[in-house]
Amino acid sequence: MEQQWWHKSVIYQVYPKSFYDADGDGNGDIRGIIEKLDYLQELGVDIIWMCPINQSPMDDNGYDISDYYEIAPEFGTIQEFETLIEEAQKRNIQIMMDLVINHTSDEHPWFVESRKSADNPYSDYYIWRDPKEGETGPKEPNNWASYFSGSAWEFDSNRQQYYLHLYSKKQPDLNWEHPKVRKEMQDVIRFWIEKGVKGFRMDVINKLSKDQRFPDVPNVPEGEYALGRPYYLDGPRIHEFLREVAAVYEGKEIVTVGETSGVTVENARLYTNPARKELDMVFQFDHMAVDAGPYPVGKWEVKPVDFLALKRIMSHWQDGLYGIGWNSLYWSNHDQPRAVSRFGDDREPYRELSAKMLGTCLHFMQGTPYVYQGEEIGMTNVQFESLDEYQDIELLNMYKERRAKGVSHDELMRAIWAKGRDNARTPMQWDDTGHGGFSKAEQTWLKVNPNYKAINVKAQLEDPESVFHYYKSLIQLRKDSPVSDVMVYGKYQLLLAEHEGVYAYTRTFETDTLLVLCNFQDDTYSLALDEVHTLQGAAPIIGNYSAPQLEGETIVLRPYEALVLQLT
Ligand code: NOJ
Repeated sequence: MEQQWWHKSVIYQVYPKSFYDADGDGNGDIRGIIEKLDYLQELGVDIIWMCPINQSPMDDNGYDISDYYEIAPEFGTIQEFETLIEEAQKRNIQIMMDLVINHTSDEHPWFVESRKSADNPYSDYYIWRDPKEGETGPKEPNNWASYFSGSAWEFDSNRQQYYLHLYSKKQPDLNWEHPKVRKEMQDVIRFWIEKGVKGFRMDVINKLSKDQRFPDVPNVPEGEYALGRPYYLDGPRIHEFLREVAAVYEGKEIVTVGETSGVTVENARLYTNPARKELDMVFQFDHMAVDAGPYPVGKWEVKPVDFLALKRIMSHWQDGLYGIGWNSLYWSNHDQPRAVSRFGDDREPYRELSAKMLGTCLHFMQGTPYVYQGEEIGMTNVQFESLDEYQDIELLNMYKERRAKGVSHDELMRAIWAKGRDNARTPMQWDDTGHGGFSKAEQTWLKVNPNYKAINVKAQLEDPESVFHYYKSLIQLRKDSPVSDVMVYGKYQLLLAEHEGVYAYTRTFETDTLLVLCNFQDDTYSLALDEVHTLQGAAPIIGNYSAPQLEGETIVLRPYEALVLQLT
């Protein structure tokens, strides 16, 4: 596989609204990120992926853009963004922007024009369809559901037509069939590359190309809606569209990652095969469903993690893209619960151990690791008492819809505590002062997790045994150490596939083999490996207990222990 500059990189995801508030208005901002660059350099990350900072009415916290060429004033100015790029580059850190091009805000001038009439230059920038005749009168063009509850179509009284919005009704989907739309987006990309951006995370990118027949989802009762995924996931023209986008930066050092929920390994091979020039990596979502129920309740059903399925899924992706494409490795992001609360154990005394264990398990896999802000200090989920303390449109809409269907308040709050997106969005915990040192404002846009006195950056920087310092070591090992090559390019092999508590795998590159052992339980296990591998002469590379317990060919793994051995 041809080596790329970003193969050895670790990407840190910043949710700007919650990272650091430099101007004291209760919202994080670009100046706040600049002030914390030294911290990120100390951690050792190479690229910062910033969630959207463009001008936006913030219906979905910036994933509803009303001007692609402006920065939202609450985040700062273009000049500050340029300073951020410059200051980051001084520290060998590149900036990756979030590119939200499947939809805009309904306040974007294109949509404002588009909804005025069916015969102006912007009329076809969005997906408009006439009402359908239903049994009881006109109704939506089809039965597709929005990801944020209800129908994916909204009636516009002016045009007397419906427009499609896979997300909120303030996020109308663009019509990618229209060459002018595609051209507009290429201009946007060019503009930010000229500013010095070195990468793009492409929002819901495998939903750009819709089946132009817009068929109903079959077998859905009249008056109900269902996700129309078969008609737009990895849709008919998606590969063509992506190649057209990628042509904009052909030959430039740009790294791209597509957010591709529902993607199969087969399609991911097409997206990430370098020869096809579409994307560098994709975010797959299979492992985000190991604690979810079936649609429509889906993630809101609170279930324990199916650990064997987790190992199967991760291995399927490790094997599936090997030698062909490239994986993105992540446990969490701004849409997911906190990793340590979900896959580890956020109760003391296990929080730090299990946070380190999760980091180990992920960073030794093949692909590029993503660290979501706060993961490197083991930040946890939050349980706000009242629904009023929550902000996220997805969870608020879900609450309304399911409450109306008779689900109890308590059950819905439990679901929000386990899976709500605001778990990941509470402000970054910098120290033990008010609002966790995130802001000097009286009130922050979302409250800080009350555990900030115990869990914060300042305390962890001072403690050489902290999660922070452990993550720093993981990152260092990948970038510059005798095991870098095997970490980055080694072939993965799952061991002990049926073990209910331990995730064990090897990575092999040329003559080097690493054995990675991660205990996902609070039990102790005594393990004998297999006939192929021997522990004789095994050298520890990293671990979250002070000394490994090895006796002959037996390894004892203590609660949430992580251990990496170099085998001979
Ligand atoms: C995926 C983003 O990660 C999420 O935060 C957003 O709500 C949707 N795309 C819609 O843009």
